[in-house]
Amino acid sequence: MTAQHDVFTPATLGPVTLRNRIIKAATFEASTPNALVTDDLITYHRLPAAGGVGMTTVAYLAVSPGGRTEGKQIYWRREAMPGLRRLTDAIHAEGAAISAQIGHAGPVANAKSNKAKAYAPVRFFNPLSMRFAKHATRDDIDDIIEAHANAARMAIDAGFDAVEVHLGHNYFASSFLSPLINRRTDEFGGSLENRAKVARGTVLAVRRAVEKAGTPIAVTAKLNMSDGVRGGISTEESLQTATWLESDGGLDAIELTAGSSLVNPMYLFRGDAPIKQFAGAFKPPLRWGIRMTGTKFLREYPYREAYLLRDAKLFRAELKMPLILLGGITNRETMDLAMAEGFDFVAMGRALLAEPDLINRIRADGAARSICNHCNQCMATIYSHTHCVVTGSPSPVNSGI
Ligand SMILES: Cc1cc2nc3c(=O)[nH]c(=O)nc-3n(C[C@H](O)[C@H](O)[C@H](O)COP(=O)(O)O)c2cc1C
Repeated sequence: MTAQHDVFTPATLGPVTLRNRIIKAATFEASTPNALVTDDLITYHRLPAAGGVGMTTVAYLAVSPGGRTEGKQIYWRREAMPGLRRLTDAIHAEGAAISAQIGHAGPVANAKSNKAKAYAPVRFFNPLSMRFAKHATRDDIDDIIEAHANAARMAIDAGFDAVEVHLGHNYFASSFLSPLINRRTDEFGGSLENRAKVARGTVLAVRRAVEKAGTPIAVTAKLNMSDGVRGGISTEESLQTATWLESDGGLDAIELTAGSSLVNPMYLFRGDAPIKQFAGAFKPPLRWGIRMTGTKFLREYPYREAYLLRDAKLFRAELKMPLILLGGITNRETMDLAMAEGFDFVAMGRALLAEPDLINRIRADGAARSICNHCNQCMATIYSHTHCVVTGSPSPVNSGI
């Protein structure tokens, strides 16, 4: 294996050099009761940074108050900046880089807890908020795209090394890409070219904002390879979108994801469906509804290491740009496989939630194994305080490094 393909060697991500090719994927932290950075949030990211990742990703820093999946999430505003600076400083002090996931949840936004309108390609009922998302007008779309550019500018000011534009999971841009959700008949609906306008326009607006700011940070996107839903985004269409994103030149890398937070979340996770725990996170009658429809909404898929690799290889074959492999990466062998298949980085979620020091452990012992058993009960903890139910990590109580 050449040095270039060793997962533990430094690598460039656009203008940024990471100390290795391992990225902590965004796992929404639920650590910001006032929609502001807390010590708890800093610890959440300091742990994997001290534990050896090249870069950690702060989940879901919403581009506007109405773009959040719940009202306690941080959104970009002046008031949030001192805390975000404290966060980036703390991660840099550990030798890691830090990325901000910037996004608008679109039909997944919770209009009730946000106390702000949600927007989708068409009027859309969100069963979790029991509210309708509003049909986005051309002005609404322009505002949301501009809000992404603004978020990128603020991310630079707060000291982030990268922004990850959320183009997945049927959030705003992804819901426009989905032929199932996007039934518009205007310039944003119909052909894939039309449906891809929001995703491409958002990335280019972010790229322009970054170039104008003059401080080089990386711009990446998290893109669905497929929704795993009949009539939703298919691999074939997503390959075309990715090819356009590559030729547009706005991105330094794409992280390849899958699934729909609205319709088929387990397609992203695989493994056990935590129906009871998920239902328990809500009050009746929603709790009863989830219990009754749980096996349909949280349909199970078998877990295996690198479960998105087969689809991701299609993207690797088609694209020249750097790609980040995600999904079921937990050990050195799988990381080496990802490198051998031509991926430039790996991203890891649950395994690092369970053991933030896993990367240092793997570095010291190539045979080290993750404790994560993909029980997926961590999914239900995003409504209280995100943690692994097996190890209790990262807990504000036991996290003193
Ligand atoms: C508790 C939890 C919260 C998550 N929150 C987010 C999120 O806010 N944004 C996002 O894009 N993905 C989110 N994800 C998905 C992860 O980034 C990742 O794509 C997924 O867990 C698959 O990777 P893994 O097999 O390494 O865990 C979350 C995953 C978990 C387990």
